[in-house]
Amino acid sequence: MTIHRKSGELYIEDKAASDIAEEFGTPCYVYSRSSVETNFNRFKNAFGERKSLVCYAVKANSNIAIIKILAQLGSGFDIVSGGELSRVLAAEGDPSKIVFSGVGKTHAEIKYALQKKIKCFNVESESELYRISDIAKEMNIAANISLRVNPDVDAKTHPYISTGLKENKFGVDVNDATRLYKVAAELPNIVPTGIDCHIGSQLTDIAPMRDAALKMVELTDKLITENIVIDHIDFGGGLGIQYQNETPIHQELFVEMLLEVMSEREQEILVEPGRSIVGNSGVLLTKVEYLKHGSNKNFIVVDAAMNDLARPSLYNAYHHIDSIRRDENKPAKRYDIVGPICETGDFLGKDRDLYVNEGDILAIHSVGAYGMTMSSNYNSRGRASEILIDDTHAHIIRKRESVDELFHNERTAP
Ligand code: LLP
Repeated sequence: MTIHRKSGELYIEDKAASDIAEEFGTPCYVYSRSSVETNFNRFKNAFGERKSLVCYAVKANSNIAIIKILAQLGSGFDIVSGGELSRVLAAEGDPSKIVFSGVGKTHAEIKYALQKKIKCFNVESESELYRISDIAKEMNIAANISLRVNPDVDAKTHPYISTGLKENKFGVDVNDATRLYKVAAELPNIVPTGIDCHIGSQLTDIAPMRDAALKMVELTDKLITENIVIDHIDFGGGLGIQYQNETPIHQELFVEMLLEVMSEREQEILVEPGRSIVGNSGVLLTKVEYLKHGSNKNFIVVDAAMNDLARPSLYNAYHHIDSIRRDENKPAKRYDIVGPICETGDFLGKDRDLYVNEGDILAIHSVGAYGMTMSSNYNSRGRASEILIDDTHAHIIRKRESVDELFHNERTAP
């Protein structure tokens, strides 16, 4: 058990949440190293000896300590910016295991990635193909590319994080893919080495993933008839986790589906999971500043806010919230848990039954993915610290941001 209860008290590995909050202050993100490792290894072990590469989607949690843990386990990385490339390199990730996704790669980002000799660009448009070709030619270097194909399947998830439909901005139309591969094969300094897709995030139904996978395999066969032979198929990420009552898609089930779809083929299998590796590996600890009882609603005002965790405000996402010291016998009241930011949308949870006192510490669960990476400085709030727990050891892996750091780059005009 990595994040668990012992006699009503929350533990992250062998460290009590109360000790962590006391030592490092709140709000703070706390991650379990063994949880991250276990989740990664579930993918890796499920593939066994099959030629495959798990490319962790850095956007989910890009702290260099997290990246380093995964790099040490042999992970590859899915990046979407030059900034993420720098992070992976700083954490000693292997550039030859990096794939670069995203619809808006700049000239500088492409050049940087070519210099570092990444494995492959997941190309999202015809214009991007031309741009990569021009830059690679200038540098006298070959660029490996795969086309991100939009398979037009409905991933049945939140519309903001669904990406595989024709109306989404991502990828190229599956019906136009063959033509584009032919264009790519003719372009100077471009080597088509793969096919790629990613249909959405927080998916809890494997059927659309299987449909997309089958379409990728079908396309691979079609390309062979055009003498375009690719060496890997990247099936993206998107496995949902349990926030509340969802039934997650287990890593093993997903991999089993891919192994079955790919049973007759020898191309390397790539996947790009983010959330399913780190999502349930982290909690956000926050202190109860005030209790506010009204005639219609009761509020718990905490020291974390929408700038620390945007998911509830942005997607109306549910994150389980409880007290780090739980006493089932105490009378619960119904509360909204809100932050100090001047917006009605600044809530972390609604209508939760809790027994709390001012000064108590609450844990917001399942925040390891898209928590810290989506945080901001709104209301001039410094970003929270991040702590990594390894058995009984707590390592500070990101210092709390100071107010000085917030306006360090600002200047008053004369
Ligand atoms: N590959 C690509 C090309 C992606 O766009 C994404 C996520 C992933 C892989 C990783 O997906 P995952 O395994 O983590 O589901 N901020 C939203 C999630 C946005 C996901 C964007 N793309 C949230 O908080 O739910």
